[in-house]
Amino acid sequence: MNDALRHPLFKQIGAIADAKGLQAFVIGGYVRDYFLRRPCTDIDVVVTGSGIDVAETLGRQIGSRVSVFKNFGTAMLRCGKWEVEFVGARKESYRADSRKPIVENGTIEDDQLRRDFTINAMAFSLNGDTFGQLIDPFDGTGDLERLLIRTPCDPDTTFSDDPLRMIRAVRFAAQLGFNIEPETFDAIERNRERISIVSKERIVTELNKILLSPVPSIGFDLFDRCGLLPLIFPELSRLKGVERVGKHAHKDNFVHTLKVLDNIARHTDKLWLRWAALLHDIGKPRTKAYDPKTGWTFHGHEVVGSKMVAAIFRELKLPMNEKMKYVQKLVFLHLRPIILAEDVVTDSAVRRLLFEAGDDIDDLMTLCEADITSANDAKVKRYLQNFELVRVKLREIEEKDRIRNFQPPISGELIMQIYGLKPCRAVGELKSAIKDAILDGVIANDYDQAYAYMERQAAELGLKKIG
Ligand code: CTP
Repeated sequence: MNDALRHPLFKQIGAIADAKGLQAFVIGGYVRDYFLRRPCTDIDVVVTGSGIDVAETLGRQIGSRVSVFKNFGTAMLRCGKWEVEFVGARKESYRADSRKPIVENGTIEDDQLRRDFTINAMAFSLNGDTFGQLIDPFDGTGDLERLLIRTPCDPDTTFSDDPLRMIRAVRFAAQLGFNIEPETFDAIERNRERISIVSKERIVTELNKILLSPVPSIGFDLFDRCGLLPLIFPELSRLKGVERVGKHAHKDNFVHTLKVLDNIARHTDKLWLRWAALLHDIGKPRTKAYDPKTGWTFHGHEVVGSKMVAAIFRELKLPMNEKMKYVQKLVFLHLRPIILAEDVVTDSAVRRLLFEAGDDIDDLMTLCEADITSANDAKVKRYLQNFELVRVKLREIEEKDRIRNFQPPISGELIMQIYGLKPCRAVGELKSAIKDAILDGVIANDYDQAYAYMERQAAELGLKKIG
């Protein structure tokens, strides 16, 4: 018995195909992931005939609703944790200006030949007499052993048919730690301009998968080497390169960013924290300046960078919601713990950082630790020790003062009521004076002390209470 096909559903599909005089196969990701021992609940079934018809019969037998996509000739149903998609075996050709194929019925070999990579073109037969037989005409199993991404047919045809596959090649290389076979890689280089016909949404789905890979730098490095990077992510591409004036050279910010990304990937699988790592220095090219005394500077790159985050998210069709704001915030604050660690760690500076980072303080610390990529071991050690000190202080002060979700104890409304004011500058000034006094440790984070402090400040401003 083929272990991949233990579930009774597979036999049932085979029996339906037998009764209709058709051949049926499970193909693609499910077969690949079985050999890679990766869990997979998406099953693709190919039928030499109408996939929709087989799906509808199965749906009736197991009492499951079938979603039919007539235009694509596909049908989908759910069975417990499984999501099963049915399609007729196809022989496809594509028009030059679109990803939408002109479809003709074909054999299983035709169908396998038109798939993206050899490791995704393997199939198990589901028919009774050949149940469980592997059909692997392009040596996908060999490529799994050799750790190779390779197209089943001429790679120029595969990529020109569907340019998204160029990005998928890179994604599988990053996700699985595979190499892209040289001819396949050369074809990506040749066909890279064709990526322009692929939607941003599909590209970003792949980018997210690359970011979530064990070593995400593999993907971005490959994008760079095959020339796709400036086409799909120009801001990242602009981080590349080293400029030199006399003995002053700055580091290559692309290389640095990729190191930070791999560092963070060792500590978290939070997608948006990984995005923050990818974008933390994105403002550097725009702020680069040369000072003959100090060398290269990137003053304010965190401010410029955090502003660029929104534009990049919009361009890539990433969500423009609190996820974007989170990435913006981390990019904006990413230097603060380093500055703290370099200096004497005062309570007041720690309170301010806690106040601004709020609940994202731990993620910010993770990002900052990942940002230390110096080749100088002594320096790295010193930084990490100082960070530990910052972390201890953060914990102490949070326990004592509860700053993380801090709301100043005296509101603007209350100030207006007490002094009979309409909204004006004085209200804002009093409010921030109270906030600063708490963050600087002049007064405790409590109502009575804040009230007394407000009275003193108001008196200085010449304000009088009403009533
Ligand atoms: N496929 C293809 N070309 C594409 C997308 C998919 O040839 N541009 C084929 C491959 O055979 C692939 C199968 O369709 O295995 C299913 O595609 P999909 O579900 O998108 O991806 P998986 O390979 O299953 O991988 P993952 O689940 O990791 O996305």
